[in-house]
Amino acid sequence: MRLSLWPETDEHQHREEIDMMLSNSSRYCTFVCETIEHELFGFAEVSLREWAEGCVSSPVGYLEGWFVEENMRRRGAGANLLNAAEDWARSHGCVEMASDTNLGNKASEAAHRTLGFKIAARVVAFRKDLGPR
Ligand SMILES: CC(C)(COP(=O)(O)OP(=O)(O)OC[C@H]1O[C@@H](n2cnc3c(N)ncnc32)[C@H](O)[C@@H]1OP(=O)(O)O)[C@@H](O)C(=O)NCCC(=O)NCCS
Repeated sequence: MRLSLWPETDEHQHREEIDMMLSNSSRYCTFVCETIEHELFGFAEVSLREWAEGCVSSPVGYLEGWFVEENMRRRGAGANLLNAAEDWARSHGCVEMASDTNLGNKASEAAHRTLGFKIAARVVAFRKDLGPR
């Protein structure tokens, strides 16, 4: 599911990131949803961040990743995953939750808005190769 959400990251790196989160469970938590046959079809990764755009408190609960398999969307799984992530953040002292998505990801933006998020900023990220001088 991580590969579906972030295809630009290879499987080895996904495994490293998962290991890092599992070994740092005071700062990261992952919730999953599964069918009654125990097949996973969605996940939410939440972290504690010192700061997040538009927030006034610290730490902030941060929705790092949020994914539901396409054939299972619009049935409330995304909302349930977010609820679990918010409960975890609350239990770690957070009073705000933050998240981000790519510009143009309309479904994600709609889901965030429906579930109570307000837009804090619109950001364009840049990169360039630094060749030799
Ligand atoms: C974002 C995502 C996790 C939502 O999961 P979901 O299981 O469909 O969410 P829910 O069924 O709980 O939807 C909650 C509400 O959000 C809104 N919503 C969700 N998808 C929507 C869409 N495609 N268009 C408009 N509104 C949408 C609806 O209001 C919906 O409630 P409703 O179905 O009762 O009208 C899912 O669309 C997804 O995996 N998208 C691809 C990955 C992604 O972009 N993740 C977010 C960036 S990290």
